[in-house]
Amino acid sequence: MSTALIVLAAGKGTRMKSDLPKVLHPIAQVPMLIHAMRAGAGLEAARTVIVTGHGSDAVEIVARTEDPDAIIVKQEEQLGTAHAVDQARVALEGFDGDVVVLYGDTPFIQPETLERMIEARSRHDLVILGFDAADPARYGRLVMQGETLERIVEFKDATARERAITFCNSGLMACRSQLLFQLISEVGNSNASGEYYLTDVVELARKRGLGVTAIACDESETLGINSRAELANADAVFQTRARAELLELGVTLMAPETVYLAQDTAIGRDTVIEPNVVFGPGVTVESGAHIRAFSHLEGCHVSRGAVVGPYARLRPGAELAENTKIGNFVEIKNANLGEGAKVNHLSYVGDASVGSGSNIGAGTITCNYDGVMKHRTEIGENVFIGSNTMLVAPVKVGSGAMTASGSVITKNVEDNALAMSRAPQENKPGRARKLFDILKARKEKRARGAE
Ligand code: UD1
Ligand code: MG
Repeated sequence: MSTALIVLAAGKGTRMKSDLPKVLHPIAQVPMLIHAMRAGAGLEAARTVIVTGHGSDAVEIVARTEDPDAIIVKQEEQLGTAHAVDQARVALEGFDGDVVVLYGDTPFIQPETLERMIEARSRHDLVILGFDAADPARYGRLVMQGETLERIVEFKDATARERAITFCNSGLMACRSQLLFQLISEVGNSNASGEYYLTDVVELARKRGLGVTAIACDESETLGINSRAELANADAVFQTRARAELLELGVTLMAPETVYLAQDTAIGRDTVIEPNVVFGPGVTVESGAHIRAFSHLEGCHVSRGAVVGPYARLRPGAELAENTKIGNFVEIKNANLGEGAKVNHLSYVGDASVGSGSNIGAGTITCNYDGVMKHRTEIGENVFIGSNTMLVAPVKVGSGAMTASGSVITKNVEDNALAMSRAPQENKPGRARKLFDILKARKEKRARGAE
């Protein structure tokens, strides 16, 4: 049976004290909404509906970037979780499969857990995902009778006895689409909050004699984010788990607790990551590479055998072929480096291509920006760029060519040519000594004047 996803993302997140909608706050550098959507992607949903509200325009852009086919519906007023799900009714018209409801602010839910929910759904009409809470706090309580979930009672509406229950509602549920919307039509708002509670569908289903159950997942998966402190904690939880996964895959992390990973960081086995390396989104590092200390990588690809850093910065679009070497204080942006190419010290290579075997000398800069537009620098194979060369783009340096140190290259250089563009050197015998004498005399005169 096919599945549809509804992701609730309309809430304001008042306690975040932020202009950014809560679900767009990043964990491991990726908005928490995207974490939830990626977990849901495992279900290969036929339709994905994102319910937006606060900051809906910004949320819509992010959701669409992740899934261009997502259906975005806006909940104009936040009248409760049942009202939020109800916004997806039209989008799911004619859909006859299972619906899974996710929260955009519950980013750690695992794809396997969602699969277990779908599996349980085949045996029960309605499935709720619960967890045993170490501190049940204000979560909705799951009132079980054996295998059957009888109802969910919100903390605010619960009796002292019900508050003693520790099996809590994660908020996630799975149900046949048409049944879910039928049940939601019957939900009212006469409760302590005056909201339309999605949780009420449980009791409504039981009244119809339908089978309702709750399955459990680990509490860490249901971690919700409501404040900056919880956001920071969620990031820490993510980092700990992601580092452990990399170690398990055969990646060496010399000081795991100092390596900061993004949600989608992918690293191959036998790669070594030295201390204090930061990964932004969109980084893939193949096997057997070496990322040295204090490097910052983002939106880039590092091939087998490459060595990066220490203190290197790879920005989006940096593509390093096998066995390339990027040294200290080198920045690479939107540039392809061919096999074995080297940029070892203090350089900026942006909007460029560097052919295999080429060596870029210390202090080289691709001058890619004229103040208005960006231009490309194309460097062929086995080129030697002398130290402190300014490559004023657009410019091409042919294969086998060389540039003299300190040159400002504004014209294309043909294959195998030497390009030299700097003031010729002149040596004046004895002049340095004279100059020193003059300067020292001046200094003494000044010191006497000050007495
Ligand atoms: C909800 C559950 C509670 C559960 C808890 C788990 C209900 C009534 N209660 O409570 O049983 O233990 O989650 O975290 O469902 N949202 C909308 N539109 C709305 C209201 C909410 O999109 O009108 C979204 C929020 O953005 C959030 C999610 O739904 O992603 C949950 O809403 P929230 O207000 O946090 O519900 P809780 O009170 O935490
Ligand atoms: Mg909540």
